[in-house]
Amino acid sequence: MTPAIAQADPGRSYRAHAAEIDEAIARVLRSGRFILDEEVELFERELAAWVGTRFAVAVGSGTDAIAIALRATGIGAGDEVVTVSHTAVATVAAIEMAGAEPVLVDVDPSTMTIDPGCIIPVIGPRTRAIVPVHLYGHPAAMDEIGDIARRRGLRIVEDAAQAHGAALRGRRAGTLGDAGAFSFYPTKNLGAFGDGGAITTDDADLAAACRRLRQYGWDAERTSQARGVNSRLDEIQAAILRVKLRHLSADVRRRRAVAARYCAALRGCGLVLPEEAPGALHAFHLYVVRTPDRARLRAALERLGVGTAVHYTVPVHRQPAYAGRLRCAPLATTERVAGEILSLPLYPELSDGEVDEVIAAVLAAHVSP
Ligand SMILES: Cc1ncc(COP(=O)(O)O)c(C=O)c1O
Repeated sequence: MTPAIAQADPGRSYRAHAAEIDEAIARVLRSGRFILDEEVELFERELAAWVGTRFAVAVGSGTDAIAIALRATGIGAGDEVVTVSHTAVATVAAIEMAGAEPVLVDVDPSTMTIDPGCIIPVIGPRTRAIVPVHLYGHPAAMDEIGDIARRRGLRIVEDAAQAHGAALRGRRAGTLGDAGAFSFYPTKNLGAFGDGGAITTDDADLAAACRRLRQYGWDAERTSQARGVNSRLDEIQAAILRVKLRHLSADVRRRRAVAARYCAALRGCGLVLPEEAPGALHAFHLYVVRTPDRARLRAALERLGVGTAVHYTVPVHRQPAYAGRLRCAPLATTERVAGEILSLPLYPELSDGEVDEVIAAVLAAHVSP
């Protein structure tokens, strides 16, 4: 049964801006140009300006954005890339798509992002890059990660799939490494109504390499200079994303306001609540609480009409496709939090009344141990 208040509801983001989106789609249909044309070019310029980089390259998905960015930095077969197991499987899949070997390390329990102290012990002669994931919309500890990368000659591709609008001391996610990789999956902070992704970077050569790789490795004469893929954003999605980008700053503010209401009302109720590290601006793609009593809380909320989700139930290193096959550091925090995390409803279209209903349901359902 669909809960009265869903955990995520991208249909509401269409309804919030329906007239503008309908007009944008109609404009593309009338133009007769559907792939990598004016809308994509304008979207790339507008996204780069919003994120704060010189370039943005639109691609087919967030997974492709990570894989193409890694390949464009020269990473491939025989190289190791350090990331986390507590992430969407896409992060690890993308590293393997680039031909490299993922090495998985633990997360910091206060931010749920990569623990910089766990990176140095796994660096070996084949380590070439780090993919920090700004999970749930909280920026990873990029100062420490940047220091490690500089000292050890490693590249950084940020997995910013969940972090449109996250920032560290005023610098947005997507500007904090060699390249940033964004997803426009419909539920994301900036969501298309289909698949999409983008790479942001200040490096002109890296941007040019990404542009080639996304379309068969073609140069301007349509001759393949590299072994590329087909990972193009279409004009309809670009036109939709241009509309939604205009509302993104307000949407992130609203996400943060909802999160602040949750934090204020749930403090002291016995759940572990999300934190914001000093200097960090959490973009609150997800509002994730933790409790060892998750199954009971989740079932009670469902009965009260509040939808929840778990991001993610099984860490990547224990998923059948990956188990026993990847190099892993000790993953004690990852193992523990996988059994405790629960994502509450969070999207800009939630009304204050609905937020109050969620809070009341959580307080009624969760009896402090
Ligand atoms: C952390 C993270 N990385 C990568 C991705 C991959 O993005 P996409 O689904 O657009 O390929 C996602 C989204 O699903 C994600 O949440």
